[in-house]
Amino acid sequence: SELALTPEQAAMVRRVIVVACGTSYHAGLVGRYAIETWARLPVDMDIASEYRYRDPVIEPDDLVIGITQSGETADTLAAMRLARERGAHVLAVTNVMGSQATRDADSVLFTRAGLEIGVAATKTFTSQVAAIYLLGLWLAQVRDHIDRERVAELVGELKALPRKIEETIDSCDRQVRAIARSHAEGRFFLYLGRHIGLPVCLEGALKMKEISYIPSAAYAAGEMKHGPIALLDETTPVVCIATDMPVLDKMLSNVAEVHARGAAVIAIGTEGSDEVAATADQALFVPRTDWILQPILAVVPLQLLAYYTARQLGRNVDQPRNLAKTVTVE
Ligand code: G6P
Repeated sequence: SELALTPEQAAMVRRVIVVACGTSYHAGLVGRYAIETWARLPVDMDIASEYRYRDPVIEPDDLVIGITQSGETADTLAAMRLARERGAHVLAVTNVMGSQATRDADSVLFTRAGLEIGVAATKTFTSQVAAIYLLGLWLAQVRDHIDRERVAELVGELKALPRKIEETIDSCDRQVRAIARSHAEGRFFLYLGRHIGLPVCLEGALKMKEISYIPSAAYAAGEMKHGPIALLDETTPVVCIATDMPVLDKMLSNVAEVHARGAAVIAIGTEGSDEVAATADQALFVPRTDWILQPILAVVPLQLLAYYTARQLGRNVDQPRNLAKTVTVE
């Protein structure tokens, strides 16, 4: 089954609900910005293991999107089933043809990223985000909230992303290795982001703890003063997502605050951003694209950072301890 949702049905949708676990949840968080901005549909997000036990309010005109790379995650499947029983249209975004999610859903969108071997999701994350962008654009079009020129422009930018990802890897690789060498013995990494950069920092922190076992926390930068700033000292690496976004100036003042505490600021910026170069101890740049698409590029240096840090510590990056690629039990 592919997208069984007709344009007429899509036009009637009143709300989108995304349920997922782990990295797939972070992909959904990125998608929320795109769907809300382009299609002007409210998007509720929930971790599947929470959603399924919350007795959530579900309406027949809700579109529930279950994002699951494997299509077999028990909690995500249960959340999708619950939504379907209560009459919502359930769409699965998955990488695995014939998986349980494809059988349980009304519609399916395949990410077609190829088999992913490493436990920590990377390429499947990128393709989940890309799939949700496409869905967001489609919803915006059928709901008449976007004009043709804007769609053409965004599709052009989406098509350029694979090349820009390669450019990002080439341009950041050496520098990220050096950063990993200097911080691999650290006790803790803090990740900060806001707006479209928030899901990116959540994902970066997850990758770091999953494969290097260094404790990490990710926070909305605006929350920094409400607690995490107390953790900072001169030894703390703070990874700040400061790529193009509508509130970049606010993010930059958060970066300046962190810098003023003497922490080691590692900032991800969009190429050509002098402010990022000026405030960070280490600035990593990704190519320019539409701000809403920046997460696909911004996450790459963070994946590399987790990878090289883990390698530096001699960890098994493909099979980290205690983790499974697919969690088919609660
Ligand atoms: C496990 C994997 C993660 C993945 C999560 C959700 O924890 O180790 O990489 O993000 O499950 O898996 P799913 O297949 O539902 O996307």
